[in-house]
Parts: sequence; structure tokens; C-alpha cells
Amino acid sequence: MSFSIAIDGPAGAGKSTIAKKIAKERNLIYVDTGAMYRAMALYLLRAGIAAQDSAAISEKCKSADITIQYEKGEQLVYLNGENVTPFLRTEEVGKMASASSVNGDVRKKLVQLQQKLAERADVIMDGRDIGTCVLPGADVKIYLTASVEVRARRRYDELTAKGENWDLEEIEREIAQRDHRDMTRDISPLRQAQDAILLDTSHMDIQEVVTAIIKICEEKCGWK
Ligand code: DC
Repeated sequence: MSFSIAIDGPAGAGKSTIAKKIAKERNLIYVDTGAMYRAMALYLLRAGIAAQDSAAISEKCKSADITIQYEKGEQLVYLNGENVTPFLRTEEVGKMASASSVNGDVRKKLVQLQQKLAERADVIMDGRDIGTCVLPGADVKIYLTASVEVRARRRYDELTAKGENWDLEEIEREIAQRDHRDMTRDISPLRQAQDAILLDTSHMDIQEVVTAIIKICEEKCGWK
């Protein structure tokens, strides 16, 4: 049986930063499921499909072959044989990913892929529905969150550092909209699994969160 940690939470809570660090420290495979939804979104955007056209999304997603490879511990996402990893972290793709991930056919396809990855390796997987749907039997489940203001500020700092010019209030509005969409969709909405441990990172730095999760694993799974 492979070991798994599920980390769910809203956009900007720090899931991927934290999960990557724990993966490195504890020799786990980090699976970024948001990147898979983003790759699908990129595919749909390139095909000119509108976010509201659910019939076209259901049809088109069938021909998207999304696979994951690891290079020096980094997850690379391939879309029909092309490494699309550098194109996934834009606001446009993130918005489309949030919209197209409400589609049941998209979710079915990507959840299968995620479950297969977790069967083969010890993983730390982050997303929105990992503890509730993808890995309901995960050894440790964490629900990572932070206030909208803090998450918007983190995103703003990240974009500013990349030289992009954004308005903080606009980012705050977009994050609130994304939260609403991710939490209220019909299929696998973002919510805390009953057996997940809630960590509010609003007033914690990265290392404090990493230490807290490792402590939870030590207590629950006998990690030393
Ligand atoms: O974590 P992220 O921002 O890269 O995710 C992009 C979108 O993908 C997110 O707004 C909702 C969707 N998503 C999902 O529905 N289920 C997941 N397990 C991961 C992401």
C-alpha cells in the first residue's frame, strides 16, 4: 500500500509551496492536480471553446491526452505530447481551469489519472477534492486556508516580483469569485473533508506550516 497526504484548500493558501517542501524533505512524489486542470483549460482555450459551453468541453476533453513526468523532482505536464508546464501559471489559464473544472467529464478523466499516480507511489497531492473524492483513504488530510486578503496579497507580491502590474483589489475580487465557483459547483466542490485537519496560514510563515504538517504526520503515522 502506498502512503498519501491530501492537501486541499482555496487558491493562494500556499498548498503547492508547502507540498513541494514536504515532498523534498520526506522523499514523496508531489502531485499538483491544479496543473492538470490548467493543462485541460489550455487545451480548451487553444481550441477557442467558451468557458460556458459545457457540451463542447465534454466533447473536446476526450481528445486531450494529459500525462505527468518528473524531472529532477519537478512535475512536468504534457498535453498531447507537448510539455505545456511553462504555460499553465497565467491568470487566463487559471480562470478557465476554475470554469472548466465544473465539468463532470473533465473531472472523471483527471481524477482517474490522479488515482493511478497515487497507486504507484507515495504521494503528497494538492487540489480541491483530494481528501473528499480522489484519495478518500489518504493517511493524512490537511485543509489549508487563509483569509482572502492574505491570499490576494501573496498573489500580488508573486506577480509584482515577476514584473507584472496588477491591482490588489482586482486580485482580491478574482480570488473571491474563484472561491465561490470552486466551493459551490455541483460535482466535488471544495470543502474540508470530515477527517481533515484545518490549518489557517494567515499568520504563519512557510516553515511554520511545513513543521505543523510534519508534526501531524508524526502523530498520526509514526513518522520520526
Ligand atoms: O490550484 P490551481 O489554482 O492550480 O487550480 C486551478 C483550478 O483547477 C481551480 O480553480 C479549480 C480546479 N481544480 C479542481 O477543480 N480540482 C482540483 N483537484 C485542482 C484544481
